[in-house]
Amino acid sequence: MQAHIVHVHPEPGSFNAALTQRATMALEANGVAVTLSDLYASRFDPVEAGRHYRNRSDPATFSALAEQRHAWQTDTVPVDVVREIEALSKADLLVIQFPLWWHGPPAMLKGWFDRVFMNGGLYTSRKRYDAGHFRGCRAVISVTTGAPEAAFGPGARGGDPETMLWPLHYSLHYMGFTVLAPFWTFGVQGHGYVYEQDDSLSTRLTTQLDRWQHRLEAIDDAPALVFPSWGDWDQQGQPLASARVRAPLAAQS
Ligand SMILES: Cc1cc2nc3c(=O)[nH]c(=O)nc-3n(C[C@H](O)[C@H](O)[C@H](O)COP(=O)(O)O)c2cc1C
Repeated sequence: MQAHIVHVHPEPGSFNAALTQRATMALEANGVAVTLSDLYASRFDPVEAGRHYRNRSDPATFSALAEQRHAWQTDTVPVDVVREIEALSKADLLVIQFPLWWHGPPAMLKGWFDRVFMNGGLYTSRKRYDAGHFRGCRAVISVTTGAPEAAFGPGARGGDPETMLWPLHYSLHYMGFTVLAPFWTFGVQGHGYVYEQDDSLSTRLTTQLDRWQHRLEAIDDAPALVFPSWGDWDQQGQPLASARVRAPLAAQS
């Protein structure tokens, strides 16, 4: 097995970095080859823009979808994106590690999705969802928060965790990944927000690193999230009456 970790945190001494180090160690100890994209360390540019494309199909007006497709067809994919796609292509397991920033991922990770999952190459109109490029590969998100676990839930102060990861999970499903249940580390505090004593926090975070290790060691038993697929939709893309629909806000609409 081969795993690829996309690590999204600017500080090498952070708890996020500790989670990535523990993931690497745990997977390698189990005989898994591990590659790493450390997006801040490599100064990955998350801003999709015309300047990345050296052989534009339309030099006058930039269309991201058109230029991604053209770059794929003319073998002029930006070199930093080529590196990311090569690493992804070899992996059976994708691990994404990041802190919750504004109730979602850091912009760096959103931009990685924008640029790396290339239109016309890694997805087309039919090569999506359960027919997606990465079908057969698994993906798991590990995310940390500042607020404590008790503050999270539907309608709760910290927000609903399900909705916060929904765009990432749904996009991974769109790309064909089997999306595993995420790993949450709540209440990684500091910097003026104190919810618990230092010794209790340090013990809890050490336990959490162990839990992450055990989760990865048992990755073959991890439950997958359920998403609708082609067989669940009608011609317009609306769910069939028989479909199992997974939508976090469905109950409110
Ligand atoms: C820009 C920014 C936005 C943040 N937004 C949230 C948030 O919406 N919810 C939350 O619980 N914590 C939030 N935090 C706190 C981080 O999630 C927390 O500091 C991080 O998970 C701790 O892990 P680290 O020590 O590895 O950085 C935010 C932090 C920053 C810098």
